Amino acid sequence: MKVLIVGGGGREHAIAACVAKSPKADQIYCAPGNAGIAEYAVCVPIGAMEFDKLVAFAKEKEIDLVIVGMDDPLVAGLVDEMEAAGIRTFGPRKNAAILEGSKAFSKDLMKKYNIPTAGYENFTDPEAALAYLENASYPIVLKADGLALGKGVLICQDFEEAKEGVKTIMLDKKFGTAGNEMVIEEFMTGREVSVLSFVDGKTIKTMTSAQDHKRAGDGDTGLNTGGMGTFSPSPFYTKEVEAFCEQHIYQATVDAMAAEGREFKGVIFFGLMLTADGPKVLEYNARFGDPEAQVVLPRMKNDIIEVMEACIDGTLDQVDLQFEDNAAVCVVLASDGYPVSYEKGYEITGLEEFKKHDGYYCFHAGTKFDGDRIVTNGGRVLGITAKGKDLKEARANAYAATEWVQFENKYMRHDIGKAIDEA
Ligand code: AMP
Ligand code: GLY
Repeated sequence: MKVLIVGGGGREHAIAACVAKSPKADQIYCAPGNAGIAEYAVCVPIGAMEFDKLVAFAKEKEIDLVIVGMDDPLVAGLVDEMEAAGIRTFGPRKNAAILEGSKAFSKDLMKKYNIPTAGYENFTDPEAALAYLENASYPIVLKADGLALGKGVLICQDFEEAKEGVKTIMLDKKFGTAGNEMVIEEFMTGREVSVLSFVDGKTIKTMTSAQDHKRAGDGDTGLNTGGMGTFSPSPFYTKEVEAFCEQHIYQATVDAMAAEGREFKGVIFFGLMLTADGPKVLEYNARFGDPEAQVVLPRMKNDIIEVMEACIDGTLDQVDLQFEDNAAVCVVLASDGYPVSYEKGYEITGLEEFKKHDGYYCFHAGTKFDGDRIVTNGGRVLGITAKGKDLKEARANAYAATEWVQFENKYMRHDIGKAIDEA
C-alpha cells in the first residue's frame, strides 16, 4: 500500500522507520519530510498546514493511508479534510484533537469526569485572572489555552511574576491567539512520565512508558524546549502506578471523549505527574510525543500499519500490542543557542556510521539536503537513539553514538536518563 506521512521532524522519522519495516508498505511519501526521512520515503515539498495541496496529492497518488504526525494540522482538522475526500487517515478528527488544542477544554473534561489533575480555573478576562492571582498561593502555573510549541506554560513564584505572565500570555499575546484564554493551575511536584497510547474510539492500548527532558541545560536548568532527550521505559512507572492510571485515567479519558460526542481515534499522549497524592494528568497531546516516539517506536514489536488500521476500523481490541523487554535512550543533538537563537546550514558528517550498528538510530529533526551534503536546518538537529539490555546500557550506548556525528555548534545535554540512577 501507499502511505503518506505528514510532518518533518524526528517523530515523523521514527514513524517512517516503523512504517518502512511493515511488509504492507510498498511506497512511502512524507510531506515535507527531511534529509533523514528521505532514506525511506519520497519527500514532497508540501507544508503540513497546506491542506488543499495535501489532499490533492493524496488523491493524485491514490494514497491508502495518511498518518498525521504533528499537532497543528490535527487541531486544524486535516483528518476531517482527508476523510471528506475519501482517504483513510490515522489521527483524531478536529473535534477530538481539541483534547490537545485547548487546555481549558481538557481541564473541564477532566473535572466533569473525575479524572485526576491539578486544581484550576479558566480565564478569558485578564482583569479577572489578576484578581484571582492576587489571593492565590504560590508557586502557581499559567498556561496559554492553545498550541504554543510546548512553550505556553509559565511557572510563577509570586504575584509579581504572575502579573508578568498574564501580560505575556493574554495582553502581549506572545503565543498568539493561544493566549485568548488561560488556565491558572495548582503547582504540582513529582516525577513526570509520558505514556502514549493507541485508541480506536472505544478501546485504548497503552505503549511502553517514557520520560522527556524539557529544559535546555544539564540539571534541568535553562529554558523549556521541545525536548532534549528521552528514555524508555520509566523505572518510576511501576505496576501500581500503571494500575491506578488504568483505573482512573486512560479508559476514563476515552469514554469521556466518546460521551461528549468527540470519539477519539489515534494516539493519546498522557503527560502524567506522579504526585504524593497519586498520578495526575499534566497534559494531553493528540499525537506521538517528540522525542518520546524516538525511544518508544523502536521498541515496538507490532506492525505499525496493522495497529493504525485497527484504530481506524475500531478493532484495536483484537491487537496484542507488544514491546521489547529492553530499554532505549535518545539524546538530542541541537544547535548551540537553541531554543532562543541559533545558526543553521552546517554540514553534518558521520551519519553513515549508524548503518553499521544494529540497535542504533539517528533520527533527523532539523536537517536538509544541500546538494549531496546534509546540513543542519533547525534548533533540534538529530535524535541519537540506542537500545540496551537495560537503561544504563542504553544510555552508555546512546552517548557513545553521539560522538559518531559532527557538526559546527553541536550541543547536547549530558544527563539524559540520569534519574535512572535514583530508581
Ligand atoms: P505542559 O505543556 O502542560 O505539559 O507543561 C509543560 C511542563 O510544565 C510540564 O512538563 C511540567 O514540567 C510543567 N508543568 C505543567 N503543569 C504543571 C503543574 N501544574 N505543576 C508543576 N509543573 C507543571
Ligand atoms: N515531548 C513532549 C511533546 O511531544 O509534547
